Amino acid sequence: MRFASCIFQVAVLGGGINGFCCAIQVKEKWPGAKVSIISDLYTPNTTGDGSAGLWGPYLMGDTPAGKVNEWSLGMHKFLKQIWISGDSGEAGVCLIPCVRLATGGNQLDVSWRDIVYGCRAMKQTELDAYSGTRSSKFTSGLHFVTYTSEPAKLLPYLEKRFRSSGGNVIKQKINDLEELIRNSNYDVFVNCVGLGALDLVNDKMVHSIRGQVSRVKADWIYYAILDESFNGNYIIPNLDSVVLGGTHQENNYNLNICPNDKSFIINGCQIHLPGLKHAQHLKDWVGLRPGRKQVRLEMEKTYNNKILIHNYGHGGCGVTLSWGCASEVVELLQKSMKSKL
Ligand SMILES: Cc1cc2nc3c(=O)[nH]c(=O)nc-3n(C[C@H](O)[C@H](O)[C@H](O)COP(=O)(O)OP(=O)(O)OC[C@H]3O[C@@H](n4cnc5c(N)ncnc54)[C@H](O)[C@@H]3O)c2cc1C
Ligand SMILES: *[C@@H]1O[C@H](CO)[C@@H](O)[C@H](O)[C@H]1NC(C)=O
Repeated sequence: MRFASCIFQVAVLGGGINGFCCAIQVKEKWPGAKVSIISDLYTPNTTGDGSAGLWGPYLMGDTPAGKVNEWSLGMHKFLKQIWISGDSGEAGVCLIPCVRLATGGNQLDVSWRDIVYGCRAMKQTELDAYSGTRSSKFTSGLHFVTYTSEPAKLLPYLEKRFRSSGGNVIKQKINDLEELIRNSNYDVFVNCVGLGALDLVNDKMVHSIRGQVSRVKADWIYYAILDESFNGNYIIPNLDSVVLGGTHQENNYNLNICPNDKSFIINGCQIHLPGLKHAQHLKDWVGLRPGRKQVRLEMEKTYNNKILIHNYGHGGCGVTLSWGCASEVVELLQKSMKSKL
């Protein structure tokens, strides 16, 4: 039996952040397994590549809070390992202070308070400093420290790590999953195609949540500033640039830069930080977040007793959930293999 000897073959579908985290964890758990990633796009062309990669649950539908916390804690621990390993510069992992701001009755009581470092409520005198030239000052806010792991740096780092452990990277679009399952030698399939699940597994619950951002050069910004009102702006520093955001348009599949969104982003962020008027504009970028009512992470028995594990629909926090979700994929695989022996 292939599973008993641990020389089974695994195909991870999708080369975004979720695909790489799964592929690495499977390969590290079963070094004898042949693990391949199959994907039509890779970094720098995946959904995460333009994102700031700030740790934080966001736009994940009604995925149960317990699951969100478990998965995002997994990523926080992984980022801490990188941070203290000495690889942080290469992997683009930074530990930065963040403020999350609100006006009026906005609820700042978040379930992940104890995962981030030093989370506390802010005083009005502090809030004034982050209110910029807003007509109404922020009236509540959370201050904490957490990680950014910009995928444009983290993905190449993970790819190197995966390849050096003997992993295989294949550039290919999959048009027919059933055909692949029937006619290939893979025993296990891990489906991490994100928005691609719309076509690949015909999941009508998956939809785009369009995000447009700008990047500017502003080396004097060391803080992530997040306006938590519904159409709020955000400012998140990465290593070589600062991300200004952003939009979250449901069911919008437009990959082109929209000038109206750009002015909303630039003008909105300048209200928070007037100094941004002098920042050099580097580029604009659009990504389509894989929205879903809930993250889909579950196993399916398929043709000839092969195993198919779905792991997609991570919405606005696919980076934050990635490592923790991959750990659950490994657990599911381990359980199903035990039942086969
Ligand atoms: C503007 C913006 C800002 C964001 N900021 C953050 C943030 O700060 N923190 C955070 O945690 N998250 C953030 N996100 C969300 C995050 O980027 C996504 O949730 C995450 O990238 C999803 O990763 P994924 O691997 O599941 O999917 P993707 O990155 O979309 O990868 C899917 C992969 O599957 C491949 N694929 C699809 N269909 C097929 C097929 N048929 N055959 C072969 N390959 C296929 C694609 O080529 C792609 O490589 C942001 C998103 C946007 C747009
Ligand atoms: C990313 O996309 C560009 C433009 O389509 C392409 O030239 C490049 O080869 C792609 N990179 C990878 C790694 O697929």
